[in-house]
Amino acid sequence: MARLIAPSLLSSDFLHLSDDVKMVNESSADWFHLDVMDGRFVPNISFGIPVIQAIHREAEKPLDVHLMIVEPEHYFEAFKNAGADIITFHYEASTHIHRAVQMLKSLDVKAGVVLNPHTPVSVLEDIIGDLDLVLLMSVNPGFGGQKFIERTYRKIEKLREMIERENVSPLVEVDGGVNIENAHKLFDIGADVLVAGNAVFKAQDPKATIELLKK
Ligand code: DX5
Ligand code: ZN
Repeated sequence: MARLIAPSLLSSDFLHLSDDVKMVNESSADWFHLDVMDGRFVPNISFGIPVIQAIHREAEKPLDVHLMIVEPEHYFEAFKNAGADIITFHYEASTHIHRAVQMLKSLDVKAGVVLNPHTPVSVLEDIIGDLDLVLLMSVNPGFGGQKFIERTYRKIEKLREMIERENVSPLVEVDGGVNIENAHKLFDIGADVLVAGNAVFKAQDPKATIELLKK
């Protein structure tokens, strides 16, 4: 299993975004995690297409774009054109998940579905074989710096069981409240990718923290 770290730029200093992009480039992090919020699917508004285009100009690692927006399908192409390598959208925000996943594939972008904390992994049973990635929210989406929801460990185990049963291989990503205390357990239980916002950007030494999260 992979052990990837995706720092979330939601917790970076937007006035000096370029410095934080450079820091991630120079660090041992694997992806940039970019949180798009519309103030409708989640009670917060973050940033959108022009900001991602700007990040793309300087980023030397894949852009993992997490869409927390209603009707995400309408924006897949725009985010792909802005530089997204991976696009994840919420199960709770889309009525036609299968169609949406096929749209992402036709755009040649990696496709992921995100589950809110209350949504059981079982809803993915008939689509899991089509996914490049499953993102489990370990906080309620909308804000950085929240407390990790312990139930997530059990969800990772259940998702791993399903992945084995179906003999498929999507990456398992976990997002929210990840820190140096819980990262090892998350990787050991079966996470492939950990998103970290506050743990990285509020640390004294962000690069060293990324190293610690990986080890
Ligand atoms: C929350 C976002 C997360 C957030 C994580 O809605 O999806 O990616 O930035 O931040 P931390 O790691 O601080 O919980
Ligand atoms: Zn996120």
